[in-house]
Parts: sequence; C-alpha cells; structure tokens
Amino acid sequence: MRQLLVIVLAAGEGTRMLSSLPKVLHAVAGRPMVSHVLDAALAAGAAKIAVVVGPDHDKVAAEVRRVAPDAEVFVQSERRGTAHAVLAARSALERGYDDVVVMYGDTPLVRPETIGALRGPLAGGAAVTVLGFRPDNPFGYGRLVTQGGALVAIREEKDASEAERAIGLCNAGLMALDGRAALDILDRIGDANAKKEFYLTDAVEVARGLGRASMVHEAAAEEVVGVNSRAQLAEAEAILQGRLRRRALDGGVTLVAPETVFLSADTSFGRDVIVEPNVVFGAGVRVEDGATIRAFSHLEGAHVGAGAIVGPFARLRPGAELGQGVHVGNFVEIKASDLAPGVKVNHLSYVGDTSVGANTNIGAGTITCNYDGFRKHRTTIGANAFVGTNSLLVAPVTVGDGAYLGTGSVITEDVPADALAIGRARQVNKPGLAARLRAKLSAGLAPKK
Ligand code: UD1
Ligand code: MG
Repeated sequence: MRQLLVIVLAAGEGTRMLSSLPKVLHAVAGRPMVSHVLDAALAAGAAKIAVVVGPDHDKVAAEVRRVAPDAEVFVQSERRGTAHAVLAARSALERGYDDVVVMYGDTPLVRPETIGALRGPLAGGAAVTVLGFRPDNPFGYGRLVTQGGALVAIREEKDASEAERAIGLCNAGLMALDGRAALDILDRIGDANAKKEFYLTDAVEVARGLGRASMVHEAAAEEVVGVNSRAQLAEAEAILQGRLRRRALDGGVTLVAPETVFLSADTSFGRDVIVEPNVVFGAGVRVEDGATIRAFSHLEGAHVGAGAIVGPFARLRPGAELGQGVHVGNFVEIKASDLAPGVKVNHLSYVGDTSVGANTNIGAGTITCNYDGFRKHRTTIGANAFVGTNSLLVAPVTVGDGAYLGTGSVITEDVPADALAIGRARQVNKPGLAARLRAKLSAGLAPKK
C-alpha cells in the first residue's frame, strides 16, 4: 500500500466572487467547496491531508478541522504561485510519502477514482502525472505539450508560443508527484516567467531535466470545473445536482421530475422512496424506505421514517424526527421535534421543540407556542392523544396519553392522561338577539331619501 499525501491549495482570495466569504467556503450541493475536495481526498485513501490557506483564513481552517480533523493547515503568507503554495506544506512533504497529490480547493467535483487514476503511473516509475482535459475554450489554461505518449512540458497561456496555444489538451490543475522526489523537484522550480511566479506546472520540465518521465491522465471537462465566479459556482452546482439525481435514481428512488429536485451531497434515501416535483433537500436529510415526499416540500436536517408521507408544501427543519408512517401534510412546519410512529399532522400547523407519542392526531391549525420572547420551551404530547383543531399549546406543557383537547383550546396547564381539556370560554347563545340587532341596524342605516 503506497502512502498518500494530498495537498489542497486554498489560499486564493476569490476576488471575482465579490464576497466577504473566502471562495472555497462557498457551497455546492449544500457543502463548502473545500469540504467536497477533502471528502474526495479521504475517500481516495489519503494517509495525510495538508491544506494551504491564505492569511486571515481562520474560517477555512475551522471548516477543514470540522471535516478532516487530522488534516494539517499551512498558511501561505504571500501569493507567489502554485509551486510556492505547495511548498508552504514543506514539513508534510519532508515526512516522505510515496505519492503526493495536489488538488485545488476551488475545483470541487473531482471524484476519488480520478485521484486513484492519477496516482497509477507513479507506481510504474513516473515522477509526475497531470490531470488533462479538453475545454471548449482553452484560453487561460496551461497547455499540455506531449511527445508520443509522454508529457514534456506545461506552458501557461502568457508564456506560450502560438503553436503551443493551439493545443487543445489543457492542465486541469491536479497533479500527482513521486513523493520521494517531490521536494527536490519543487525546490528547483524558479520564477523566470511572464507572471514572475513559481509555477507548479514547471515540475514537468524539471523532472524531465532529472531524467524522469511525466504522464497525462485525461478527465471529462465536467469533472474539473474550477470556480472563480458566481456563474461558475452555479455551473458546478448544476453538474453536481445532475450527479446526485443520477445517484438517487440508480439507488432505487423515484424522482418524478428529477431536474426540479435539489439534493445535498449527504442526502440519503432508502429504497422505493418517491419524490414528487419541486422538492428541496438541504443538508443532513435521511429518508427511509417507502416514504413519499410530495411536491414543493423543503427539508433540512430531518429524518423521515419508513412509509412516512411529507407534504405537499411541508417544511421539515433541523431536528425533525418522523417515525414510521407519520403523515405531515400541507403548510406544516416541524422543528426539533420527535413524531412517533403513526402521528398525523396533516394541515397548517407549527410543531417545534415537541415530542409526540405514537398515533396521536394533531388537528389543523395547531401551534406549539415554544418561545416566550426570551427562551424556548418544550411541549410533550403523549400517545393516542387528540389535539383539536386550532389549539395553542403554550410550552412548557405536557399532555398525557389518550388526552383529548377541545377545538380552539389554549392549553397553558398540563393535561392528565385520558382527560378531556377544553381551554376556551364556553359558548353563549342568546335567542333572537341576532334578528333584533339586524332590524335595529337596518332601520338606523336605511339610505336617506
Ligand atoms: C493554474 C495552472 C494552469 C491550469 C489552471 C487550471 C499553474 C502555474 N497554472 O492556473 O496550468 O490550467 O490552474 O485551473 O499552476 N493558489 C494558491 N497560492 C498561490 C497561487 C495559487 O493557493 O500563490 C491556488 C489558487 O487559490 C487556486 C489554485 O492554486 O485554487 C490555482 O491558482 P490560479 O491562480 O487559479 O492558477 P491559474 O492561473 O488558473
Ligand atoms: Mg484558476
């Protein structure tokens, strides 16, 4: 087993994003770009990950620690080129890995398989492997100069001759280096070029000077899209959504109109789930076997149990735990609440910071009043209870098993099990009063002749 060090370059400012957020923290499919790159590196079996960030990139470092706690973070204090950035991780390189792979934090769609393919030739003796692709418009990319099957140089746009600019095969940015030779090669790279930068791409010619070969591995342009602007962020999002929809379909999910369903990188589905059109899955959603998510629902940080039905027009917020066969219907919002199996909340309700026992029915228009203006409080409703329509449960409050709350109740006190609670004023009927009032009013209000 060859030991792999992955170095992720993430020191860029991302000026063209026009953002106060560092570029690599912008999300695709609900996850920061740099986290997608870290996921791929981990899945590719990296023994170590080193991330190179810019000065004042504490937020990037924090995200890196969250996703890959064992990763090392290095700061490149001056932006002097891609080879200079890689050398910021010198102490990691000095430990001597078999393979070193350089990735960009703003190129989020690279798959672990591609990292593996890039490493392949190193085991066969190559010093460098470069990920190539053929963009529609090669302008701005480094061109891959080949002779026979071998890569002999990478020429940056600004340094390229006219003949070299005509080459369609370009550098995607990913590079694998023989870990035993990497430091020697990188230290020999100079800055005698149009941008006066230390180009990582010069590794190819340096290796050649040392009598070592370089190879190209070609990837689809889709996989290596780099994000420098919001438009490219949207492009990457579209490509990744396509991949995630495909993965869901292949995993046994029915997406009635796949192009209208938005998924997160971590959305997880059981089998025979049906997702109707126009559903958005934010981060952290798990849907179990046989559940149906009806049209125009929005889910985030929620767990939907087997056979449950959600929507249309439902909103599940973080901490929504729906047991087996639960029904959550139209215009219902559930937050930080456990709904035990068989619970029904079918219409126009807000259930927050609540636990509801099995088979309880929550009538239309029910609201758990969980916030008193200062703090949040919990509501507990037992099993087999019935909450009449338009009830307000003022938390903290507990309703026992089998209790029955009358329609329109304002429940401010605990309700014992099997009790009937009516939390509203009693109705008063005054016979004939309506007719008398009407007569009086129509006399008084009759139009003047
Ligand atoms: C680079 C490649 C080019 C390739 C292109 C693909 C070099 C010299 N050129 O060009 O061949 O076709 O990517 O997109 O490598 N970075 C740092 N510190 C630095 C400089 C860059 O961290 O000092 C990071 C950037 O944040 C970015 C990546 O390295 O993630 C690439 O840098 P960028 O300036 O975009 O290089 P390109 O000119 O696009
Ligand atoms: Mg670039």
